[in-house]
Amino acid sequence: MHYNRRHWLQQSTLALAGLSFGTDIFGKQEKKISAPPNAVLLNSNENPYGPSPMAKQAMLESYTRSNRYPDDYIGPLKQKIASHWGVAAENILLGAGSSEIIGLSALHASMKKKKVVTAEPAYKVWNGQSTSFGLTITRTALTAEKTYDLAAMAAAIDDDAAMAYICNPNNPTGTFVEVNALRNFAAEASKKTMVFIDEAYTEFAGLESLATLAATNKNIIVAKTFSKIYGLAGARIGYAIAHPETINNLGSYQAWPNGSVSMVSVAAATASLDDVSFVNDCKSKIEQARELCYDTFKKLSLEYIPSHANFILFNIDPVKKDLIKEMEAQNIYVQARNHFGGKWCRVTMGTLEEMQMFCNALKAMV
Ligand SMILES: Cc1ncc(COP(=O)(O)O)c(C=O)c1O
Repeated sequence: MHYNRRHWLQQSTLALAGLSFGTDIFGKQEKKISAPPNAVLLNSNENPYGPSPMAKQAMLESYTRSNRYPDDYIGPLKQKIASHWGVAAENILLGAGSSEIIGLSALHASMKKKKVVTAEPAYKVWNGQSTSFGLTITRTALTAEKTYDLAAMAAAIDDDAAMAYICNPNNPTGTFVEVNALRNFAAEASKKTMVFIDEAYTEFAGLESLATLAATNKNIIVAKTFSKIYGLAGARIGYAIAHPETINNLGSYQAWPNGSVSMVSVAAATASLDDVSFVNDCKSKIEQARELCYDTFKKLSLEYIPSHANFILFNIDPVKKDLIKEMEAQNIYVQARNHFGGKWCRVTMGTLEEMQMFCNALKAMV
């Protein structure tokens, strides 16, 4: 998937040293590498509204400091994140996206045992790396409601289990398990194995974080990212929340603990935490986009899973045409996979205008 993460602000953007601060260079300078210009990118669960205005300003003000290491800014960001979740700075480890945090955790888990327990379907991008650490992955089926079957996962956690991975809300289904049930599961399972809770999408669902539990339990790690609700996927910044001892262990696998983030991404993340109105605005626009899609799916009699995140999984077995190809012909990019014995498409919530285009394209196809 990441190979298809196509685009990024061209380096030349930041080389435009003559730009005055406050100029909105972000609207104009996006360049896709493998997707054509003006592509409607609904395949990577990015936030079409980001970065937030405050993050953009902070990035513009910080890029000229890119000749310096970000040490002086890392501590304050960790402190700010810690205050946000009611934990201490020693409970935080920064990484280049939560992907790095998942990798460090899997590496740590693989030092002792070799089995990971997760669900099918769940977020998988990290699976290849885990396999190269010698981990094998056991997947339990979701419940009839397409949520994690915590009882089945608990049963699969035996003496060989190195790590249990749960993404809540789940990617690709957009469903979630109740936080109290998850808290009880994590507390119990952590007696036997390391429990990894991926909270990439909690903000869209208004779900409580397990941050404070992770801060006090050496065997629970919570991962958060700035890539989703904060709209900073390309800035590559995320973090772990865990017990200080666990944070030290994870950090020991980084050449420079906390140091894989850039001056610009640290500035963007720091400013983003203050931009509450941006977060609320995104959440409400994503909800509107979901309603627009539900409406279309209902009209077309396509089965869908009600989502609590910025994407929806819907069944495309009734679509006789090649949906991916047909969408791409209209410059719209989505993802299709086999799940539950059929074919499903995961569509990310873009802007309302983009979702209207997607819905029109779907209507023309079915
Ligand atoms: C559940 C989940 N976890 C982690 C990630 C990786 O995010 P990051 O950009 O923070 O590496 C994603 C990205 O799609 C995701 O869906």
